[in-house]
Amino acid sequence: MTHDERAAALEGIAEEIRACTRCRLHETRSHAVPGEGSPDTEVVLVGEGPGSNEDRLGRPFVGRAGELLERLLGSIGWRRDDVFITNVVKCRPPDNRDPEADEIAACAPYLHRQLEALDPTLVVTLGRHSMGRFMPGARISSAHGTARPADPATGAAGALVFAMYHPAAALRALEIERVSFEDVAAVPATLVAARARREGTPDPVAPAAATEPAAATAPAAATEPAAAALVVEAAPPAAPVPARPAVASPSSPDAAADQLTLFQGGPR
Ligand code: URA
Repeated sequence: MTHDERAAALEGIAEEIRACTRCRLHETRSHAVPGEGSPDTEVVLVGEGPGSNEDRLGRPFVGRAGELLERLLGSIGWRRDDVFITNVVKCRPPDNRDPEADEIAACAPYLHRQLEALDPTLVVTLGRHSMGRFMPGARISSAHGTARPADPATGAAGALVFAMYHPAAALRALEIERVSFEDVAAVPATLVAARARREGTPDPVAPAAATEPAAATAPAAATEPAAAALVVEAAPPAAPVPARPAVASPSSPDAAADQLTLFQGGPR
């Protein structure tokens, strides 16, 4: 897909979301929150559902959790415009309650189609409900800071999924905030590993992580930043994944760092 085709596909989905009446959440919303960001990004962040600020403005992560999310991204040199940010449910659950199973199911086709259009290399889940879509059965206390291949049924065929705590949880507990900064520090190297996996080339940062199917988890990378431990038991069939245009495979950690700089401008 070209940039224009992706942007048009995303806007078409957003229009449908703004008019959606598939579940009870539309009755109490002020604005649906389809998501926003670069149509050309390799990285999609998926939160749980809009809060009151998001409902008021129709934009994701614009309240205190959003401020922390921007600080987390800033700690790795990224801005929110570098990525695409969306949620599992696109309308605010009343009183910020957890989304219910039928609401998540009603909204799932939208997230699926957004992921198909964006075709991300890396999906970062924020919080339990988002992680539950991509890592069924995982517990956030052990899965945070780890990556695994996305089930192609999510729409993100070919992507790695990296789990993080929800920024709102980090706002409530200093220890979770500390861990979240630690976890996000592994995201750039995980993106490099995810690119290598898509392209079928060795991961320049943690070679065993992307390519060794026998190991349950990858050894810690020797260089900084460390890639996430890659849990491989959920790997989908090893279908070849088309390479991104205009992104050379880095052949060393230095080249990987260069490539991360490339990401700032968007590699495709
Ligand atoms: N929390 C979320 O999960 N999503 C938002 O958009 C805002 C807060």
